[in-house]
Amino acid sequence: MVKSFYEKEVYLSDNFWIMFGKKKQTSTIDKDQLELIENAQKRIKQKKRLYVHFVVFLIGAVFLILANTVLGIGKDFTIAGINWFVYAILIWLFLFIYHFINVFITNKFMGKDWEKQQLNKLVNQQQQRINKLKEEFLKEEKKIAQSQAYNETQSLEKKSANKLTIIVAAGEDNAIGKDNDLIWHLSNDLKRFKKLTSGHHIIMGRKTFESFPKPLPNRTHIVITRQKDYKAPDGVIVVNNIEDAIDAARKDSQPFIIGGGEIYKQSINLADKLELTRVHASFDGADTFFPNVDINIWKEVSRTTHEADEDHNYAFSFITYLKK
Ligand SMILES: NC(=O)c1ccc[n+]([C@@H]2O[C@H](COP(=O)([O-])OP(=O)(O)OC[C@H]3O[C@@H](n4cnc5c(N)ncnc54)[C@H](OP(=O)(O)O)[C@@H]3O)[C@@H](O)[C@H]2O)c1
Repeated sequence: MVKSFYEKEVYLSDNFWIMFGKKKQTSTIDKDQLELIENAQKRIKQKKRLYVHFVVFLIGAVFLILANTVLGIGKDFTIAGINWFVYAILIWLFLFIYHFINVFITNKFMGKDWEKQQLNKLVNQQQQRINKLKEEFLKEEKKIAQSQAYNETQSLEKKSANKLTIIVAAGEDNAIGKDNDLIWHLSNDLKRFKKLTSGHHIIMGRKTFESFPKPLPNRTHIVITRQKDYKAPDGVIVVNNIEDAIDAARKDSQPFIIGGGEIYKQSINLADKLELTRVHASFDGADTFFPNVDINIWKEVSRTTHEADEDHNYAFSFITYLKK
C-alpha cells in the first residue's frame, strides 16, 4: 500500500516509466529520508492543531465571559462565590495545557525519535555483547589451536624419540663372534642386554636368530632373511630386508638391532643410538666383526667400566653413543 504523498509520487513516476517502456528511474529519496519527511509533516500537523486549539480556546473564553456577563446565561450560578464561566475557562485552560505538553514534551521526548534512540541503545548493547562473545570465542579458538599445535609437537617429539638402537658386545678389534656363536660369556652384559631389550622389538639376521636355542622371552623377534619361505616359530616376524624390519617395529619407541655382523654393517648408518659393550681383549680366530665406530659420527654420552673378576674373564665397559 502506498502511504505518503512522497511514496505516491515515487510509485506513480516509476509506473509511468514502466508503462511507456522507458528505463525505470531510480528514486533518489531513500527510506530514511522518507521517514524524516513523514515525521516533519506529522509535527507540523500537531503544531497546527495546537495553534487552532489555542485560537478556539481564546474565542471560547471570550464567548463564555460574554454569555455570562452580557447575555446573563447562568448569572446566578456560582460555586464558592465564583461564577461558573471561570471554572469552565480554567478546565479548558487545563485541557489546553495538557495538549501543549503532549505536543512539546511527550511527543518530543517519547515520540518516534525517542523510540528509535531506545532501539539503537538496545541494538548497541546487543552488538557489544556479540562482539564480546566473538572475542571470547576467538580467544578460545586460539587456545584450542595452541593446544592442538602443542599436542602435535609432543607427538612429533615422541616420534623423534623413536630411537633405532644397535646393541652389541665387541672386542678391542671389533670381534663379535666365531662359528655362529659368541666368543665370551659375560653375565653382567647378558643381564644388561635383557634389561635394555625386554618389552621391545629385536631385529636380527637369520644366522643370529638360529644361534639361539629358542626365541628370547618378552621380546618381539624380527628376523631378516632372503629366503621367501623361511619358517619361524609363531610370534616371530620374518622379513626380507632391513627397511621392512624397521617398518615392522615402527610402533616401538626403541627397537633394537641385535646383530649379527652382516646386519650391523647394513644398519649402522640407520641407527640413532649405540649401546656398545667394549670387551677389553682381542680374540684370535674370530670370524665376525662389528664395523668401526666413527667418532666423527658418534658421540659418547656415557661410559661405565667393570674390571675382570671371578664371574667375568675380561674387563669391559658399557658405552652409550648417540649419533651426532
Ligand atoms: N657380539 C655380539 O653382540 C653379537 C650379536 C649378535 C650376533 N653375534 C654373532 O654374529 C654372528 C652372526 O652374524 P652374521 O654376520 O654371520 O649373520 P647375521 O647378520 O646374523 O645374519 C646374516 C643373514 O641375514 C640375512 N640377511 C643379511 N642381510 C640381508 C638383507 N639385506 N636382506 C635380507 N636378508 C639379509 C641373510 O639370511 P639368509 O641367508 O637366510 O638369506 C644372511 O645370511 C654369530 O657368530 C653371532 O654369535 C654377535
